[in-house]
Amino acid sequence: MSFPATRMRRLRATPALRGLVRETTVEAGDLLLPLFVHTESERAPIDAMPGVDRLPVAEAVAEAREAHALGISGVVLFGIPATKDAEGSQAWAADGVIQEAISAIKAAVPNLLVIPDLCLCEYTDHGHCGILQSTADGVTTVDNDASLPLLARTAVAQAQAGADVIAPSDMMDGRVGAIRRALDDAGFADTPIMSYSSKFASAFYGPFREAADSTPSNGDRRGYQMDPANGDEAVRESLLDVDEGADILMVKPALPYLDVIWRIKEASQVPVCAYNVSGEYAMVKAAAAAGHIDERAVVLETLTAIRRAGADIVITYHAKDAASWLQ
Ligand code: PBG
Repeated sequence: MSFPATRMRRLRATPALRGLVRETTVEAGDLLLPLFVHTESERAPIDAMPGVDRLPVAEAVAEAREAHALGISGVVLFGIPATKDAEGSQAWAADGVIQEAISAIKAAVPNLLVIPDLCLCEYTDHGHCGILQSTADGVTTVDNDASLPLLARTAVAQAQAGADVIAPSDMMDGRVGAIRRALDDAGFADTPIMSYSSKFASAFYGPFREAADSTPSNGDRRGYQMDPANGDEAVRESLLDVDEGADILMVKPALPYLDVIWRIKEASQVPVCAYNVSGEYAMVKAAAAAGHIDERAVVLETLTAIRRAGADIVITYHAKDAASWLQ
């Protein structure tokens, strides 16, 4: 039955009716807040990301408390070490900044989920996500299989420091399986893996790389991160990660890839997380600062759209603002 019998506007007439038929909700508990932790003693602002600072461990603990008080489910941690080397050894050092941040936050806010990002790019002096090899014809690439033990070792170090969930973002093939086996062997069979299963080689990571000082010194990440043009491949990547033992899948970035979120949710039936990345945040902040958009409305609409596309969980730098607006 169509017009005039059907009038779609009937259910839009009042806030109460709109609330009754609303299909998608966003709650603070759906959100995870990323934090950058460094070894300096002061907070350091990140130019492109107003409201986001690089934090000393004690300040990260304070932010984590605040996030927990707002109802946010957890924090995603990125470490910025004082020194970097070819292998990224500060990633797994027991006294590395990331391990210190994990244990300090767990001790102070035990019920907040602490989810360290697992990658080598913040820790390697060349800025790539694994260790490098030179092929016979002199081309430098990231050595997939040689990087796996380093990633697995880092996962165990993070679990030993108290991480609730391990979140590999490096995009090496086989890393979820390697990490699962290493965690099981080290007595962490109950620690879940949230895999950045379809992570695209995106220009939207620009501000993050400024924050983490992790821009590759040569080349780019297109040899391991996904081509933005590929949707079938994203589904395939995700299902492979499920086979290797991933408990939660992730799509990253979020807004330009809403179709991918939807397809992966449909194909996998696994909890899906979407990462609303640094460039997405920077654009909203810049437009809001210029007076071109209403920041609050844009952020809440964005988070609703990401949830509607099928994301169960959203990682976002807007988490604290959003959680306070939703109260
Ligand atoms: C590490 C990593 C990156 C991001 C999350 N984990 C950067 C990259 O792959 O270059 C980006 C997050 C963001 O832009 O907010 N590999």
